[in-house]
Amino acid sequence: MHDTLLLFGATGDLSQRYLFPSLQHLLRDRLLPPDFRVVAIGRSEHDDGGFQAWLRERIDTPDARDAAALDDLLRRTHYIALDLGDEQAMVAALSPYADRPSVSYLATPPDLFVPACRGLKAAGLLEDPSRLVLEKPIGRDLASAHEINTALKDCLDESRIFRIDHYLGKAPVQNLLALRFGNTLMEAVWHNRWIESVDILVAETAGVDGREGYYAHYGALRDMVQNHMLQLLALIAMEPPSMLDADSIRDEKRKVLRSLRPMSVADVAGNSVRGRYADGVVDGAAVRGFRHDSDVETFVALRAHIDNWRWAGVPFRLVTGKRMPSRTTEVVVTFKPVSHWVFERPSRERARSNRLRMRLQPEETIELGLMGSLAAPEWGATELQPMSLDLSMSPSPKRRIAYERLLVDALKGDQTLFVRDDEVEAAWQWIDSISNAWQGANTPVQSYPAGSWGPTEAAAFLPATLSGNGHGK
Ligand code: BG6
Repeated sequence: MHDTLLLFGATGDLSQRYLFPSLQHLLRDRLLPPDFRVVAIGRSEHDDGGFQAWLRERIDTPDARDAAALDDLLRRTHYIALDLGDEQAMVAALSPYADRPSVSYLATPPDLFVPACRGLKAAGLLEDPSRLVLEKPIGRDLASAHEINTALKDCLDESRIFRIDHYLGKAPVQNLLALRFGNTLMEAVWHNRWIESVDILVAETAGVDGREGYYAHYGALRDMVQNHMLQLLALIAMEPPSMLDADSIRDEKRKVLRSLRPMSVADVAGNSVRGRYADGVVDGAAVRGFRHDSDVETFVALRAHIDNWRWAGVPFRLVTGKRMPSRTTEVVVTFKPVSHWVFERPSRERARSNRLRMRLQPEETIELGLMGSLAAPEWGATELQPMSLDLSMSPSPKRRIAYERLLVDALKGDQTLFVRDDEVEAAWQWIDSISNAWQGANTPVQSYPAGSWGPTEAAAFLPATLSGNGHGK
């Protein structure tokens, strides 16, 4: 495991909220090497003491072990203020850290990826076996993503580039792979003959506050669908890999992404809805709508099709939005009804279809919805009722938040949960078809009150499992 982490964007939101707390937990649980050190790089002027005090104020220490781990992390952290556009300054400040194999983590806006990478290379920090980790978004469309990927490859080999999609580090996502490929029962029904539809919902109560500039340039399609939602879709739809190594899995995911049917101007009208939240109430508090000159969306609903043998005819409904009534992330696979109904009650119409429901948030669970007869049946009639089989992993103290898992994998060099260049580009290709079609069709951005499930036009896209969605489903 490499023991030097260079963290660029160290004073940014992601570092404060996820990366430093993850390192604190990993140190607490003794999962990092003995000589582990962090070089924190940001634009703000701090000396080591100033940065440590700044960080200390922002990290929770619920008990003595966490407090001791934070002290340990701060002792191992050295801060450097740097302008990533200044290659000479990068070489001067960073070359002393080229003494050991390192992982450089760019938690920065994508326009800094290429200059940072060139500076790192010049400072000797990208020599084999050192690695590079990049946060999303990788570009804003296919052309810019390709440009970034090409420039990165001039600095180091793809086998040492780790593109993060933190959804891949979430525990139920791992469990989905185990369920799909570790069980004959699942794989046998995993295709269009038995599956009716797939829903992927990522609803957030949070708005875009504090990130208006970034968001206005990206919008929900690029911020959420291009990466997190398409990665979930790819894992659900991919063919079984021949082995569980990084490239076998990524080869299969890429094939799915390349099979997504591009959307034309004619398609977007019936198969997509864009929305933007207006003033409203979320969690009992009044919130202001998203106001910006750009016509960017904070909500998107799509009906996608995968044009291959396994999935022909199965709609994949993707819905994501900010300022929704609850924070709910779930994937619902709905199976087709049984072909011949023999029970009296409930009537076939009322029987609930079998569903596999994988929740990522707020709680992490996997449930299989079945019909059964639990109560002692009345004579002559078998009374069916929906039952739910809990397939979740039992909560374990070893359960890690996504970034903890991904940081360890990057330090160890395991690329399985990271996204390859060709996957990113295949995803952008599909996303570009939608944004171009929206432009061509002048697709309007519908307003929805904050605290609702999006524009009324999107009702048909919401999963039926969503109770009280306000659209009568
Ligand atoms: C980020 C997006 O990648 O994921 C944010 O940029 C979004 O807009 C976040 O809020 C959601 O992550 P999670 O883990 O809270 O669902």
